[in-house]
Amino acid sequence: MSTDLTSSLPAGDVVDRMDDPDWWRQAAVYQIYPRSFADANGDGIGDLKGITSKVPSLSALGVDAVWLSPFYPSALADGGYDVDDYRDVDPKIGTLADFDEMTAALHAAGIKVIVDIVPNHSSDRHEWFKRALAAPKGSPERDRYIFRDGLGENGDLPPSDWTAAFGGPAWSRVEDGQWYLHLFTPEQPDWNWDNPEVRADFLKTLRFWSDRGVDGFRVDVANLLVKDLPEVLPSKAELDSMDRDSGDYPLADRDEVHEIYADWRRVFNEYDPPRTAVAEAWVDSPARRAKYASPEGLGQAFNFDLLQADFSGPQFHRIITENLEQSRNTGSSSTWVFSNHDVTRHATRYGLPPLNGRKVKQGVEWVAAGGPEDELDRAGGLRRARAATLLMLALPGSSYLYQGEELGLHEVADIPADRRQDPSFFRGAEYDGLGRDGCRVPIPWTSSGTSFGFGDSDAHLPQPQWFADHSEQSQDGAADSTLELYRAALGLRRELQAGESLEWLETGREDVLAFRRPNGWVSITKFGGDDVELPDGDVLIASAELDGRSLPGATTAWLKQ
Ligand code: GLC
Ligand code: CA
Repeated sequence: MSTDLTSSLPAGDVVDRMDDPDWWRQAAVYQIYPRSFADANGDGIGDLKGITSKVPSLSALGVDAVWLSPFYPSALADGGYDVDDYRDVDPKIGTLADFDEMTAALHAAGIKVIVDIVPNHSSDRHEWFKRALAAPKGSPERDRYIFRDGLGENGDLPPSDWTAAFGGPAWSRVEDGQWYLHLFTPEQPDWNWDNPEVRADFLKTLRFWSDRGVDGFRVDVANLLVKDLPEVLPSKAELDSMDRDSGDYPLADRDEVHEIYADWRRVFNEYDPPRTAVAEAWVDSPARRAKYASPEGLGQAFNFDLLQADFSGPQFHRIITENLEQSRNTGSSSTWVFSNHDVTRHATRYGLPPLNGRKVKQGVEWVAAGGPEDELDRAGGLRRARAATLLMLALPGSSYLYQGEELGLHEVADIPADRRQDPSFFRGAEYDGLGRDGCRVPIPWTSSGTSFGFGDSDAHLPQPQWFADHSEQSQDGAADSTLELYRAALGLRRELQAGESLEWLETGREDVLAFRRPNGWVSITKFGGDDVELPDGDVLIASAELDGRSLPGATTAWLKQ
């Protein structure tokens, strides 16, 4: 970061934090979905100036970094994960100058900036895809993507029977009869990572943002990119029978993908402090995930295990133990996350019956059923979410928070079909049900007014009336509010965070998890119903009211011994 910014920083410790090459290891990172955060020009869509205007709120919250979901030019076929141009800002939400202004304001407040990089696919409006369409079969322009002739006499059958992630076939046909591969929507053609121009262009993009002062990257579906596509492609059934963890599965998590990230790492290390990265890699085994988190690769990877678990002592204990061990082995630090822009908010998930091992995306069925109120325990869900978050914030490693969870927001289920935007809704993706719009509804900043202070006109996704009770304004200064809980916890975390070790404390029962961090920082969570006695130490904070020295069910407390 530039010296003119550091010199204007208020406190010395902020300067140290900004220059520390290890800042990412135990950071609290706040995910912003830019189009739904704050709308400065009143057109209903959140924008970069809106983010800049909320730097005081982010500062008061006490996060170390923000991660911005894509803000690049996009037709929004997939919420911006269809990128027209990796090195620009969508004119609907700002300019590069707005980006620089936002970055400077965040940096001046001691907050790092992480941007989302989408390397598996561009959008079909990307300059190189347009050129590929305009160029003939077999041309260098087409080779940047994955084009194939079709099967059948006239080539009018797709090259394989693969389905795309949001439903429908994974191949679409172009005018001259060839087909292109898209593992997501047809508007998201997959890049050909065997093509050196593609590789070079992404290095250029990483430098472009790093030069602008971006501190790190979140790498979208980092486990895809490289594919093994022989002349005769395997069928869907053949793919389904293959081992996805072998490093040799044709479409995902291939060992060669790490050569790309080794190149990226060399670019990150050109900067001081080195730029960081976190992989979004939905791989099944922790050992496969570890490869993405290697210091020679991206350095960190999301661990979605807690996000897929029930609010359960034994499940949390197993997941935490495994992941800390994994990060010790790789030299990375662990990551923790309960909510993001792809899943049902955790206050809602924890207000629904536990999964008990059922392999479904939690909350999706409830949304699909129209969000029946009688099936959702709103207060209980939020209470458990607060306890879970307070536990998470005491863990070694990085915590990733998603905008709105600090307001205790629930999933919005009642979005009319004609207002929905998520392609998984339109394309009938089974595992996403009605889609992911319910966690992407614009943030309520005030309790009244048009779009609850999001902007001066209606928000691009409709906000429910109950947002009024969750606004920043209504929670600011209210002692028992979720916002004040997050602020206090993040403040304490910053003070207490030291070495990355954790020592489990014996509690004698599996629905009570307690652990000690260096400096005598203790976190204890009671998962189930009845009360338990608190261990020794001064109570620093609790996720719900305590009754003297007893800890009620669905509550976490931090103590200092
Ligand atoms: C990632 C993103 C998701 C997007 C998909 C395709 O999973 O988090 O929102 O739809 O990649 O880019
Ligand atoms: Ca706007």
